[in-house]
Amino acid sequence: MHLPRRLCSLLGGVFVLFFCFFCVADYYGYHYYYYSSTAILSEAYPPALPQVRTPTHGTPTPTHLFNDTTDSLWVAPHHHPDARYTKEKKRQCKKKYWKCNKLPTDPEPPLEMFEEGGEGGGARYNSTFETNSLEDTPLWNQFADRGYTVLGTNGSAAARRLPDVLIIGAKKSGTRALLAFLRVHPSIRASGPEIHYFDRFYSRGLSWYRSQLPLSLEGQLTVEKTPAYFTTPGVPERVKDDLPNAKLLLVVRNPVTRALSDYTQGLSKHRSRRSFEELTFVRWSSGLVNSEWGPISGGLYARHLKRWLDHFPRSSIHVVSGENLIMDPAAELCKVQEFLGLRRVITEKHFFFNATKGFPCLVKREKTGRPHCLGSSKGRSHPPVSQTTYNILRDFYRPFNFKFYKMVGHNFHW
Ligand code: A3P
Repeated sequence: MHLPRRLCSLLGGVFVLFFCFFCVADYYGYHYYYYSSTAILSEAYPPALPQVRTPTHGTPTPTHLFNDTTDSLWVAPHHHPDARYTKEKKRQCKKKYWKCNKLPTDPEPPLEMFEEGGEGGGARYNSTFETNSLEDTPLWNQFADRGYTVLGTNGSAAARRLPDVLIIGAKKSGTRALLAFLRVHPSIRASGPEIHYFDRFYSRGLSWYRSQLPLSLEGQLTVEKTPAYFTTPGVPERVKDDLPNAKLLLVVRNPVTRALSDYTQGLSKHRSRRSFEELTFVRWSSGLVNSEWGPISGGLYARHLKRWLDHFPRSSIHVVSGENLIMDPAAELCKVQEFLGLRRVITEKHFFFNATKGFPCLVKREKTGRPHCLGSSKGRSHPPVSQTTYNILRDFYRPFNFKFYKMVGHNFHW
């Protein structure tokens, strides 16, 4: 039997209306989720944590960045439905599996990130050893820098904080190794490249300095390393003014080998340099040491430390043995963690001795989980010097060394 034409068109219209309604509802439901949901954290988190930054670009993916359960961090995007780790996400995915499948994955970090930051170097990522570069930009910082909100376990947002800890020097004593090892600790956030705020860029002001520092959560310690601070007059006063409660780490090494290491670094930058002896002695025949020459003056530890002790109590400064940092890194790191008031996370199990490199390396880098040695600019072989030169320099440094031992209360037997 035939339905009247009117009824037919009425039913058709109703059908079309319903169809449109579902399409629109579906569309807005999806977008409602896009823009309003902050509930993209795991079940461990309350669903409506405050968001402090609005992403402007990028294709965020919530990412569990640390395996360490005590310091779990999440990157919380709030303009994208890819809540991959939530029930909500599963529900969404079931409903719109084709949309989930289309979601972009985290992009690989750009290749430039593998270039070494800081002094020396220019070494690149290679198959034998990784450079220091990636540790310079921890993954979670990269995400946070792209405009995602980084949240700590207590819901506090990440911020750039002025340093709690400065590795002030001494240049060529193992400062990079100390920084690299310290970064293993989940309570440490460290800048990669040397910032040189207190010696070169002081006029740029504290807000510039802060902008150069990594994001950190409350309770984490921000560490900056610029070894030139130790030897530059005027820096201790500035640090005292701006960071009166800073804890200072000073790595020292036999000043004769330090001088050679410093000279070797210079050689790698300026090929046509004169020999170590030529630069060390005012006149080779006189045996008079040129104490003004950087590689020599850098090892006059007592002189430099005195300036720091004029402004900081001895208890604010922890001295690390550069030799022991190579022989027994875990023992040195144990003392450093104690000085910084951190629980002892970095232990023997984090290190192995790499025979090719001739230095201790990290068993696992925080980010890649792969073994990690410092780059090729660390642990270079030095040009040979005669025993006579070595003896003259050792004698030259002796009184300064004794003074230094007295100041720090430890005999390094150099
Ligand atoms: P050399 O390259 O002359 O051997 P800094 O990081 O302060 O510039 O110090 C560089 C020195 O750190 C290196 O000097 C090297 O001896 C020392 N060092 C200490 N531990 C190291 C490690 N695990 N890997 C490489 N170099 C290390």
